[in-house]
Amino acid sequence: MKRVFSGVQPTGNIHIGNYLGALKQFVELQEDHECLYCIVDEHAITVPQDPKELRQHILDVAALYLAIGIDPKKSIVFVQSQVSGHAELGWVLCCNSYTGELSRMTQFKAKSGGQESVGTGLLTYPVLMAADILLYDTDIVPVGNDQKQHIELCRDIAIRVNHNYKETFVVPEGRFMKAGARIMALDDPTSKMSKSAINVHSRISLLDEDSKIKKSIMRATTDSDGEIRFDPENKPGVSNLLSIYSAFSGEDIETIAARFAGKGYGDLKKELVGVTQEALAPIKANFKEIRESDELKAILRDGAERAGAIAEKTMKRVRDTFGLGF
Ligand code: TYM
Repeated sequence: MKRVFSGVQPTGNIHIGNYLGALKQFVELQEDHECLYCIVDEHAITVPQDPKELRQHILDVAALYLAIGIDPKKSIVFVQSQVSGHAELGWVLCCNSYTGELSRMTQFKAKSGGQESVGTGLLTYPVLMAADILLYDTDIVPVGNDQKQHIELCRDIAIRVNHNYKETFVVPEGRFMKAGARIMALDDPTSKMSKSAINVHSRISLLDEDSKIKKSIMRATTDSDGEIRFDPENKPGVSNLLSIYSAFSGEDIETIAARFAGKGYGDLKKELVGVTQEALAPIKANFKEIRESDELKAILRDGAERAGAIAEKTMKRVRDTFGLGF
């Protein structure tokens, strides 16, 4: 069985971009793959966090994982900092990556731009991500498009170590959704939907109330030519709404666009409100109960134990490759 690994940062506001680009794949894959789904708290501290809030967000993401349908009997669900191999392998991989390739990463440039002093963790962020993936001999990494460059770097590092030392790592592949791989901000469809944007109507969070979902979609930025057609370059707003519709409903984008031919943007938006509310209703219903249950932490502890056992096997191989210890 092929092995799958992916992670989400516990930074609050998990939105439909995260869901349609990544989380939805997690649920599908667990049926016929060996899956590990991680809450990457060590990545979260590459920027300052409130420690109390971070701990809450870790449990929030864990509860969301289960609420969307990840089954802890089928998949391993755990928190990154609970398995020490991530940080350990992260260091080894730092010694096998170049500052040049790291400083060329789009996400690093975006996050460090304009700051006077830039945290080293922001630069080495993708190396820790590579460690997450390689630690489990991962075959497949389901993620959104924005992580493509990081997956490429992970592959480069794995190939480099295998070549310069000896065959040590499985070289993984990214897995991207057809619709949903890059959901754009509702208020500005030229930038991606993000957890940190100031305008709450730029995104729909998975736990948003129905009234908030409606407001955000109805006020989404479109254009003035009035034609419903999928054309991301010239019509980014309408195309984004069609992508979201398609990703939630499973219906082909072209089919949806054809159905709305001759109709107005208001009609598309109204239907999309219904589709979105319906898709998120069961997640919201499940979330509260799971978040409050005592079982949640037990599931994470069990997950860390199972993940730790796999990680330790890889670390033995890594220490042997590099001659660490005795
Ligand atoms: P994070 O927490 O920013 O996002 C979680 C997942 O959501 C995807 N995503 C999107 N997909 C479509 N449209 C969007 N607007 C959108 N925004 C975010 C992301 O691509 C991601 O799959 N670096 C990762 C976390 C990570 C990781 C890993 C992932 C750490 N180690 C190892 C895979 C494997 C991140 O910041 O995700």
